[in-house]
Amino acid sequence: MGIAIIGTGITRFGELWDKNWEELVLESTKEASESANLDLTEIDSCYVGNMNLSRFEGQDHIAPRINEILGIGKVVRSEAACASSSVALKLAFNELELASLKKENKVILVIGFEKMTDRVTQNATEILASASHYDTEVINGATFPGLYGLLASRYLHETNAKEEDLHAVAIKNHKNAILNEKAMFRKEINLEDFKLEVASPLKLLDCSPISDGSASLILTTEEYARQLDVDYVKLECIELATSSISLAKRNDILVLDSAKRASETAYKKAKISPKDIDVIEIHDCFTIAEILNLEACNFAKRGEGYKIVRTLEPYEEINKRKPPIPYLIDGKEIYVNTSGGLKAKGHPVGATGAAQIVEVANQLLGRCGKRNVDCKIGAALNIGGTGGSAVFSILKRPW
Ligand code: COA
Repeated sequence: MGIAIIGTGITRFGELWDKNWEELVLESTKEASESANLDLTEIDSCYVGNMNLSRFEGQDHIAPRINEILGIGKVVRSEAACASSSVALKLAFNELELASLKKENKVILVIGFEKMTDRVTQNATEILASASHYDTEVINGATFPGLYGLLASRYLHETNAKEEDLHAVAIKNHKNAILNEKAMFRKEINLEDFKLEVASPLKLLDCSPISDGSASLILTTEEYARQLDVDYVKLECIELATSSISLAKRNDILVLDSAKRASETAYKKAKISPKDIDVIEIHDCFTIAEILNLEACNFAKRGEGYKIVRTLEPYEEINKRKPPIPYLIDGKEIYVNTSGGLKAKGHPVGATGAAQIVEVANQLLGRCGKRNVDCKIGAALNIGGTGGSAVFSILKRPW
């Protein structure tokens, strides 16, 4: 017996100036409780992931604010930059594993949210940068586009990858987002649109956007899910790993070591290999991140992730294909970022981890409409910053 995800909810992602963060949290949580067919009064505890509400919206001490909005009597907040809500999910998983051993019927809510667009880009960039190493990176003017720009230039220098391979990731993810009514950008882009440079070699369209949004999950033990008689997917395992925050302290800046360790432990626990995965949401805050993370999760060797992207060639014709568009990995079609990924669905940083799980759970439950793919095993990789934190989850259909 394991841990079950019985409810999922997500707001639209985007520049949501007509809603405040509390309304977003309430909206995704209501959707999750409706899909679990449960009332909020039946929730025992809540873990909420948020990166920086204090600097984006002036509010710290979030847990009691969540109590005021949802009436839940035990709320804990977690922070791990863009992986904040995956850490919240890990804490919920741990509490439920204990409940399962004690044969307790517990229901836990996980929320991830961020409200970023009330700040101008320059200010938002500065707030986000606080999740990199202050003394060696921030103080010298580094930003996340800048740090990922460094990773991208090193990658292009060391491998045979070209800038077009980076752009192809974004073209695929934008195309996939067309079928996601909650995504921020639902329009095709083409190679010739990659003009405006942000942090060489990354162009504006290689970056995820600054966004608002919230995602919620309701979990319980598998035993209790069966008693409740609700549809559910199994959260088979969720593994967390931490690495150095600064790029300078890494042995090899092209290996996202935390993502590698988290995924390898998860594969071992779930007794699967990467090729068993049918659908995966992979952290693509910048296009180079999707490539490095494909390598970190052992879909490709170091320096060869771009070859997976090349299975989309010719890139000029990606938009002629029907979404969702899979990669061909060792002869198998694997769907990466059916939601549109961070790149096109949007990246309200604290919401992203929970949102990835919403997508994978809904794929396995057959609730993704036209973008649903045939799948039995799903996964998600969420990273914080340039990989200082990583969380890898494996989800399975119980039937
Ligand atoms: N992808 C696609 N389109 C984008 C975009 C993105 N990332 N960011 C903005 N746009 C679009 C806007 O919708 C707007 O389109 P319109 O003219 O049709 O309305 C246009 O580009 C200009 O938008 P604007 O908000 O002025 O862009 P900006 O220059 O202020 O910001 C970035 C662009 C790329 C600098 C910003 O999105 C960014 O900093 N992204 C990275 C966020 C980040 O670091 N996250 C943490 C990751 S670890």
